[in-house]
Formats: sequence, C-alpha cells, structure tokens
Amino acid sequence: MKFFVDTADVDAIAELNELGFADGVTTNPSLILKSGRDILEVTKEICAMIDGPVSAEVVALKADDMIAEGRKLAKIADNIAVKVPLTWDGLKACKVLSGEGKMVNVTLCFSASQALLAAKAGATFVSPFIGRLDDINIDGLDLIEEIRTIYDNYAFKTEVLAASIRSVNHVSECAKIGSDVVTAPPEVLKKLAQHALTDKGLAAFMKDWEKTGQNIL
Ligand code: G3P
Repeated sequence: MKFFVDTADVDAIAELNELGFADGVTTNPSLILKSGRDILEVTKEICAMIDGPVSAEVVALKADDMIAEGRKLAKIADNIAVKVPLTWDGLKACKVLSGEGKMVNVTLCFSASQALLAAKAGATFVSPFIGRLDDINIDGLDLIEEIRTIYDNYAFKTEVLAASIRSVNHVSECAKIGSDVVTAPPEVLKKLAQHALTDKGLAAFMKDWEKTGQNIL
C-alpha cells in the first residue's frame, strides 16, 4: 500500500520522505491555507522533493475553468496529479485532462456510485473521504470496501486513494481491504509506529542492560 502525506508542510514531508514513507503528497485548498504559502510555489517545492504523485487541487467550479487551472497546475512538474471535485463539472474536467495524459485525482468522493463515475471518466485516483463519513455516523471504511469490490469487478485501473484518514485504525483497515493508497496527516503516519507494549518492553530491556555494566561501543 502506498503512503501519501496529506499536507503542504514541507518540513513534515521531508521527515517522512527520509524514511521512504512519502510515496506521494496530497494537498487541497484548506491545506494550502494552513501552510501560509503560495500554492504554485509550495507545490513546485514539494514536487521537487519527492518522486511520487503530488495532488494539487483546482478551485474553479465550472469544467472549462477547471481544465484551464488543471493545465496550469500540471505544468508545475511531471509528477503533478490534478485534483478535481467529484461533481458533474469535475468529471468533465477529469475526462479531458486524463485524455491529455495528465494524472487526475477525483476528490470529495462519498459514495460508490460517485467512485464508479470517476473510474469511467478516466481518473488516476479516486479519493473517498473516510473521516467525514464517520463524522455523520456512516462507516467510511464500508465505502472503501464497496469501491474496492466494484473496481476489482471491472478491472478499473483507477487507484483507491483513501483520504480523510483520522486514525491508525483507518490505515490498518484500509490495508486489509486493499486500498491502493492512504493519504494521511503526518501525525497519523507517525502514530503507526507507536505501541505502549513496545515502550514498556524497551524500558525493561534498558533497565536489565544497565545491570550488565556493559557497553557495545
Ligand atoms: O485529503 C483530504 C483530507 O485532507 C480531508 O481530511 O480530516 O479534513 O476530513 P479531513
């Protein structure tokens, strides 16, 4: 499963990239606002940091304008994935941009039927939002399972890019289901390494090692 880092914070991306945990990056208008950076500048910087896809989102709402914005974003670097919302206009833009050979990430997906349309429109990635479904008491992981089944039924090449990841459980469950990618905030990716028994066991090892009076170096 690929890990994409869901942030426009270049320092956080660099830290995870050093460990090989940044197979890609996703941004959106809210993450750009949070970064305090210019979208074109920060996106160019991120594209130069990692080899994998970097999703940059259009902000237009009409297909023609989305296409114009998408073409401009795609010129930033070869690893740009143009992010468009899962609306009728977004699907039109997806069809045109993917037809031009550009990677397209169709985002704000909340149903299997939406994901089916994204695949048929030529999306490279579809981004179903788990956490926001959980927020309204709908199990977002069920959607990942539904999309996985549909895509496998018809051998769609569109990759499932699970988004709105809020917990370690979201990541592990997505891996069990077979999501191609999870995009998670840096803090969630770092939490994957944490377990209380690991800390407890290490403390016990250190305590016993100290009693040996030995050193390795
Ligand atoms: O990639 C989408 C993600 O940034 C949304 O996450 O937690 O705002 O639903 P969240």
